[in-house]
Amino acid sequence: MTNQRGFILGFLLFSMHIGAVAELPQYSDESHLGVASCASSVCHGSVRPRSSTGILQNEYVVWSRLDRHKNAYSTLLSAESKKIAHNLGLKNAHEADICLDCHADNVAVGKRGSRFQIEDGIGCEACHGGAENYLTSHTDKGVSRDQNISNGLYATDQIAKRAALCFSCHIGSEEKIASHEIMGAGHPRLSFELDTFGVLQPAHYVVDKKYSERKWAGSSLTTWALGQVEAGKQTLRLVESKLAGRQLFPELSLFDCHACHHVMSEKKWRQQDRIRLPPGTVRLNDVGFLMLFPIAKVFAPTLQVGLHADLRELHQRVNSGGDVKEVVMRLQKTLDSMTSSVSSNSADTAAQKVLDELVSMGASGQFQDYVAAEQAVMAIDMLLSTVGARDDYDDWLDSLYDSVEEEDYYDPLFLAEVMERYLSGNSVL
Ligand code: HEC
Ligand code: HEC
Ligand code: HEC
Ligand code: HEC
Repeated sequence: MTNQRGFILGFLLFSMHIGAVAELPQYSDESHLGVASCASSVCHGSVRPRSSTGILQNEYVVWSRLDRHKNAYSTLLSAESKKIAHNLGLKNAHEADICLDCHADNVAVGKRGSRFQIEDGIGCEACHGGAENYLTSHTDKGVSRDQNISNGLYATDQIAKRAALCFSCHIGSEEKIASHEIMGAGHPRLSFELDTFGVLQPAHYVVDKKYSERKWAGSSLTTWALGQVEAGKQTLRLVESKLAGRQLFPELSLFDCHACHHVMSEKKWRQQDRIRLPPGTVRLNDVGFLMLFPIAKVFAPTLQVGLHADLRELHQRVNSGGDVKEVVMRLQKTLDSMTSSVSSNSADTAAQKVLDELVSMGASGQFQDYVAAEQAVMAIDMLLSTVGARDDYDDWLDSLYDSVEEEDYYDPLFLAEVMERYLSGNSVL
């Protein structure tokens, strides 16, 4: 009991200074009624998209045929999952909360309605919130969106909320994490970027003029930039909740995997300006911050110096097991300012600048770590589309993807060469 109270108190204090995140659907008060409750053909289960309401109404069909979230539970029955479960000493994966928390809509048993089935995987309510109090009213014209939200609908259009939702499973949160133990047992490493994955998840909605009147809608660049700021905040939350206090072996999944996992004869260590730790030290996975440098340069130049200094201090403190509170708070403030700068700028004109900045960073060898390269490539792909030059740079983009194809053999020098080709104008082949 005391422990639990301590935890809740700790969580409240902690949420106060990292900025409160809305209760995620998994932990909210409302019961989850099950995908069957949404899937009727007159609701969201139409075979063809409809045009009468602005809502496609074929969401269930898109989700059940194309969306990998639908299969997240059945993944837990695969041979790969059985092996992971065996290595962890679990009876099986499909009944273990540590797996179900990310591979299904694992709400408390008392919050499952009569049509709820855990086998449905990551169903509608895992993202849109338990429908107990909005199911009957959310189609009512007289009921406003705010009312629906206070009835339990989760605001998936709001970037901070959407990010918290996706990150909780795709990066990890205070409550659930793909720990180093789970990865050691055979789980794939997680990687995520809000805009790219938002595009990869087969869309069951159309963002058009009408949509933008009803909901938040931003360009890919804005979604990406705000998503990166949120990723920085999520890193801070994880540092505070998982790494505070000295431990001989802290949660290793929060560090750069290849700081440890690479062949010794490679001798690839070199000083990285943003980190400045001595050789032979394990470094925090700071990829949640890396894209913030080009974003700050273009959207909020005055924040650059502080961002650099504070990130270095965060590295030092995590590395020495020192107190992280103050530096986390400073970074949190900086990230809040970045959110306002990005939100108040007309984004699309900035795309070319961010693109040039990212490529320069790449050419000067700043994407030493694989996770950094991976984020840079996803961003560059999005930026080329935004500036309308993706076709012109088709072959160059292929080379860029080649450079991150094999995680275990990632060669930062090759990536830097490809980036250099863009700068020297040799990229259009
Ligand atoms: C409850 C946890 C959970 C939430 C919330 C969640 N995901 Fe996922 N997502 C998963 C899991 C687990 C998989 C892998 C499913 C499988 O193949 O078994 C996945 C797969 C995906 C894939 C396919 C990845 C690939 O490699 O093909 C995309 C894209 C994706 N998610 C995007 C998103 C986005 C965008 C959000 C937020 C709007 C989100 N997810 C929210 C757990 C989640
Ligand atoms: C923090 C959330 C999280 C936890 C905890 C978690 N997973 Fe996953 N898992 C994911 C996500 C997200 C993906 C999809 C990765 C991608 O494709 O980007 C995934 C992918 C997988 C895959 C690969 C699926 C494929 O087809 O490529 C397997 C297998 C798997 N998980 C099994 C498990 C098992 C077993 C457990 C429990 C021991 C577990 N997971 C716990 C989030 C999680
Ligand atoms: C992995 C998370 C995820 C899952 C699972 C999911 N959605 Fe969504 N859904 C989103 C996101 C993100 C959006 C876009 C943001 C928004 O409009 O709120 C969205 C948008 C919608 C919209 C709004 C369309 C509009 O024009 O306003 C509807 C309706 C919808 N989803 C229904 C469903 C139904 C029904 C299911 C289950 C069959 C489902 N969703 C499953 C994440 C999800
Ligand atoms: C501080 C160093 C360190 C970091 C950082 C680290 N690991 Fe490990 N990892 C280890 C050690 C030590 C082992 C155990 C090796 C053994 O038993 O042979 C291990 C084992 C593993 C294994 C099992 C390998 C096998 O041979 O079966 C996997 C997979 C793994 N780690 C993945 C990751 C991923 C993914 C990350 C980043 C998210 C990561 N590790 C970060 C040190 C690290």
